Amino acid sequence: MAEHLTVGRVAELTGVSVRTLHHYDEIGLVHPSARTPAGYRAYAAADVERLREVLAYRRLGFALREIADLVDDPAVDAIGRLHRLRGLVLDRRDRAAAMVTAIDRELQARAMGIETTPEEKLTMIGAQLYDTIGSAYPATRRTEPRIAARVWDALGDARTVLNVGAGTGNYEPVDREVTAVEPSAVMRAQRPVGAAPCVAAGAERLPFEDQSFDAAMAFSTVHHWHDPIAGLREMRRVARRVVVFTHDASEAGWLRRFWLTRDYLPEAGTLVRGRPPVERLAEEIGARIEPVLIPWDCADGFFEAYWRQPEAYLEERVRRAVSIWTRVGPEAERRAVAGLRDDLASGRWAERNRELLALDAAELGLRLLVAT
Ligand SMILES: C[S@@+](CC[C@H](N)C(=O)[O-])C[C@H]1O[C@@H](n2cnc3c(N)ncnc32)[C@H](O)[C@@H]1O
Repeated sequence: MAEHLTVGRVAELTGVSVRTLHHYDEIGLVHPSARTPAGYRAYAAADVERLREVLAYRRLGFALREIADLVDDPAVDAIGRLHRLRGLVLDRRDRAAAMVTAIDRELQARAMGIETTPEEKLTMIGAQLYDTIGSAYPATRRTEPRIAARVWDALGDARTVLNVGAGTGNYEPVDREVTAVEPSAVMRAQRPVGAAPCVAAGAERLPFEDQSFDAAMAFSTVHHWHDPIAGLREMRRVARRVVVFTHDASEAGWLRRFWLTRDYLPEAGTLVRGRPPVERLAEEIGARIEPVLIPWDCADGFFEAYWRQPEAYLEERVRRAVSIWTRVGPEAERRAVAGLRDDLASGRWAERNRELLALDAAELGLRLLVAT
């Protein structure tokens, strides 16, 4: 019985109130699954391990909803969890150190009467969107084998491959020597143990010599880059062959083609405004453009993935793994989801989109750019 700890004892050891522990139990986050001989609830060894992880994520500033996704991730074992946590803690330490350096630099500059530029002031913060939303990513985002096969085929005979904006490592071919580049610490920390080595950098400035790789690939990431043209130019500089999976963000190619953006979330249009058209991206790297149809049962939960399973968009965990929902803001999201829920219940969605139900794959503007 020695390894079973009462709620009171756990509160004492962790400095967390009994009330908070009860709350975690009520919301299903950490349940004391054992009983003391006197019949009181107690934490068994596995409960303690889970609680420790929850409290560590709390200390790192994660929301309870995000923590639930992290600790329930079936794809990661105990060792993998510790590695992920360690990566996040190290990153927090590095960021704090970088901020201290930046503050010292500014203090020094001010002492010398020099004003730092607004840009310099902001680089100190260096926030990444995926540092905020990335922990929800693995819940629904995984390799879709049919699309992966297209990407790997396009890589041709490349032995060494650079994966830019690599995220958690989906779509990395296992039979080649891969190097990953990913600016978000949260995404890097979620890469599985044994995944390809990952460098913290952005596409716009790749820390590699010219022509260091046989091929460079970028999957579902170009639309996040501050400067997509500069990033693609960098890919071309460091690799002989370039393969990019992206989407045609034009009005006709995407916004009007997909019922979700057309009928429920027109705000998505404001996110793509001013972005270089897919033809311009292809031109920059001298690529051919190939359409990629989305299978109706797509394994990777990207934005368009559930075109024939509309109920999926009502699920919070599906939306949280796709940045568009965060970027349009909570009001647009609430309205879109409520509208879709009503239309599914009334049969209006089915009426409007009847022709989709007969399709096994849909053309929704996804494109593979291949430059050889
Ligand atoms: C939708 S995720 C795709 C991740 C991965 N390629 C996949 O398919 O699972 C987009 C990724 O782009 C990364 N990203 C954002 N800005 C970037 C930049 N400037 N350069 C490279 N990657 C960037 C994000 O951190 C995020 O991991």
